[in-house]
Amino acid sequence: MSDVLTLPLPDDMHLHLRDGAMLEAVAPISAQRFGRAIIMPNLVPPVVTGAQALAYRDRILAAIGPDTGFTPLMTLYLTETTEPEDVAQAAADGLIHAVKLYPAGATTNSASGVRDFDKVRGVLERMAAIGLPLCVHGEVTDPEVDIFDREAVFIERVLDPIRQATPGLRVVMEHVTTAEGIAYIANSPADLAGTITTHHLILNRNHLLVGGIRPHYYCLPVAKRERHREALVAAATGGDPRYFLGTDSAPHLDAAKETGCGCAGCFTALNTLECLAQVFDAAGALDHLAGFATGHGAAFYGLSAPSGQVVLERRAEAAVWPAKLDTGAGPVTVFDPGFPVFWHRV
Ligand code: NCD
Ligand code: ZN
Repeated sequence: MSDVLTLPLPDDMHLHLRDGAMLEAVAPISAQRFGRAIIMPNLVPPVVTGAQALAYRDRILAAIGPDTGFTPLMTLYLTETTEPEDVAQAAADGLIHAVKLYPAGATTNSASGVRDFDKVRGVLERMAAIGLPLCVHGEVTDPEVDIFDREAVFIERVLDPIRQATPGLRVVMEHVTTAEGIAYIANSPADLAGTITTHHLILNRNHLLVGGIRPHYYCLPVAKRERHREALVAAATGGDPRYFLGTDSAPHLDAAKETGCGCAGCFTALNTLECLAQVFDAAGALDHLAGFATGHGAAFYGLSAPSGQVVLERRAEAAVWPAKLDTGAGPVTVFDPGFPVFWHRV
């Protein structure tokens, strides 16, 4: 196996860039490392209308500066009052590439999400008709349901009924974290895909909780048992086009994570590709990295082949990254995979 790997420029099919000082700090990092990214709309207030998505795209482009070639692929945040016509118009304009469904209260900034799924039926039907994908945060919010079971219960109670009721709806099950999620995708037709994050390929719940609580490993959906992580690695490295990279890089200031009630989210945009190469190398699947990090997602979203390339090199010494990113609002901790990564970006 060669120690040099030339890959198409990766696409990040699930990315949080935030706004203001955080956007200024993190957007250039993704823009240097990825060709395109599906931009999550969970700002405060959320990106609900086409006009808001257009304004946010302009702020992102201003933050990354000219000549990067990076394309932010915008999404709308689905609410119970979203207008099917606004969604269809934004899609026809080429402005948005997906609509994001957050069950209300499921995760960071999801208070405006959906409570009554019947209220979004009209939008979903319109999306099915025009082929616009629905990106789903797949966790129920029922307080009776254990947090480690919320993804599996969501599939049964919400996702499968939505898909049955809306034939033709293209769905991305975002940041899959369980063997049940993988099994559901594996047994579905190709209109259902799944994104998998870098950190969920690396972490199980012991990493989060044994020997002290690690706030920088806390994200939603929360990392599960080792057997689930193994199912994710098998899916990601197996070459199936229904699985592709969505880093869910979700920066929060250290002060908001290292506290009595810390925010969910891992900041992985800075070292994702190197970490992924290490994971795929360990699985003997480096030949499937390009598909996972670029080709599969681009095909699902109907995008062109990426224009650029990135070269990775395996060296004897481990890669080193800054422990923190300084933003104008304070430091953000960079994801630590917890093992040496011998792949370097050249
Ligand atoms: C995300 C965030 O911080 O916006 N957090 C996370 O833990 N992944 C929201 C999300 O994608 O759930
Ligand atoms: Zn996310």
